[in-house]
Amino acid sequence: MKFFIDTANLDQIREANDFGILDGVTTNPSLMAKEGIKGHDKVMQHYIDICNIVDGDVSAEVIATDFDGIIKEGLALAELHPQIVVKVPMIKDGIKAIRYFTDKGIKTNCTLVFSAGQALLAAKAGATYVSPFIGRLDDISYDGVELIQQIVNIYTIHGFETEVLAASIRNSMHIIKCAEAGADVVTCPLESILGLLKHPLTDIGLEKFLADHNK
Ligand code: E4P
Repeated sequence: MKFFIDTANLDQIREANDFGILDGVTTNPSLMAKEGIKGHDKVMQHYIDICNIVDGDVSAEVIATDFDGIIKEGLALAELHPQIVVKVPMIKDGIKAIRYFTDKGIKTNCTLVFSAGQALLAAKAGATYVSPFIGRLDDISYDGVELIQQIVNIYTIHGFETEVLAASIRNSMHIIKCAEAGADVVTCPLESILGLLKHPLTDIGLEKFLADHNK
């Protein structure tokens, strides 16, 4: 299972990359805004900066919601750096655009996916990744991890190559549950990744080993 970090914060991307477990990065317009990255040129440069830190796929989201606009933006993003994956929303023109990009050999990430039917369409259009948002489903009392399991089953039965990228991860338990459900990728905040390190018995055990060593 691949680990992506879900942030536009360069320090956090560096920290996760230095940790040695990072396979890629996902961003979205809200995450870019959180870092204060505004204006076309700054946004583009920020994507290049991210690509220069991590050796893996970097999802960059289009803002347009009409076919021609998505294609124009997506082509410009794809030209920025070979690691860029064009992130396209799960809407009708988005699916058409994913088919267009797939036929051109451009990687895509179909975002804002909340149902198995949507995931099926993304796979039919040839998306490289499909991003079900599990935390946002949990927020409205649906089981996000169950959706991951359902999509993984459908893709396995029918041999779709689209990778299931579990998104909107809120905690370390989500990562474990997605691993059990067979997600190909999890994209997480740094905190959730580092949370996997923690166990009180590790701390107690280490303290005792060091104390015994010093006796
Ligand atoms: C996915 O690619 C999105 O950037 C992200 O996971 C959304 O997560 P949120 O629900 O925490 O905003």
